[in-house]
Amino acid sequence: MLNLVIFGPPGCGKGTQSARIANKYGLMHLSSGDLLRNEIEKGSDLGNHVKHYVEKGFLVPDSIILKKVYKNTIRFINSAGIIFDGFPRSLVQAVMLDKFLNKKGLNLNMVIHMLVDRSELFNRLTGRAEDSGRKDDTEQIFRVRMRVYEKQTHCLKEYYSAQNKILQVNGMAPVEEVSAKIANAIDYYREKNEVFSDVI
Ligand code: AP5
Repeated sequence: MLNLVIFGPPGCGKGTQSARIANKYGLMHLSSGDLLRNEIEKGSDLGNHVKHYVEKGFLVPDSIILKKVYKNTIRFINSAGIIFDGFPRSLVQAVMLDKFLNKKGLNLNMVIHMLVDRSELFNRLTGRAEDSGRKDDTEQIFRVRMRVYEKQTHCLKEYYSAQNKILQVNGMAPVEEVSAKIANAIDYYREKNEVFSDVI
C-alpha cells in the first residue's frame, strides 16, 4: 500500500490535491472533514454532537475522530493505499495513527506538508464561501481555524520530520502545477524509497 497524509492550514488545497492524487494512483481518499460534514448533513447523533466544533472552527474531540478514521481505514485496508486528508491534526492523533497502522502491519510512506501564504488562504476561503455553503468559511472562523492550526497541527512537521517522511510543497502555484510536483515526488519515492528533502 501507498499511505500518505496531507496537512496544512485551512484552504491550502488538501482536498483538491487529495482528490487528484487519489485519482492518479488509485488511492482511497479519506477526508476527516468530509466524514464529519456528512454526519452533520445526515443529522445523526454524531453529527449533532460535532456540529458546534466544526462550525466554530475547533477540533472535534480525538476519541470521535479516531473512531471514524479507524473504521474507514479498515474498510480500505485491501486497497492500493490511502490518502489521509485533514487527519491527523494533532500530536495525539499522529501517534495514535502510527500505532493503529503498525498493529495492522502498515505504515505511512510520506506526509505532504502544504505551504501557502496566509493572505492567499484567506482569499481562497472567502472566495469559495458562497458556493461551499460551509458555515466555517467566514472571516471570523477563518481566524479561529488558523489559530487552531498553528497551535495544534503545525507541530506535525517536527513529528514527521523526525521520521524523514515530510515532503514540503509550495502550494501557491496553480492546481495542476502543484499536482505535478507532488506526483513527481511520489514517483521518486516509489523508485528510491526516500522522500525529497527540499521544498518543491
Ligand atoms: P477540513 O474539512 O479538513 O477543513 P480545513 O482544514 O479547514 O481545510 P479546507 O477543507 O477548508 O481546505 P483544504 O486545505 O482542503 O483546501 P481545498 O482543497 O478545499 O476540516 C473542517 C473542520 O472539521 C475542522 O475545522 C474541524 O472542526 C473538523 N475536523 C476535521 N478533521 C479533524 C480532525 N482530524 N480532528 C479534529 N477535528 C477535525 O481548497 C480551498 C479552496 O482553494 C477551494 O476553493 C479550491 O478550489 C481552491 N484552491 C485549491 N488549490 C488551489 C490552488 N493551487 N490555487 C488556487 N486555488 C486553489
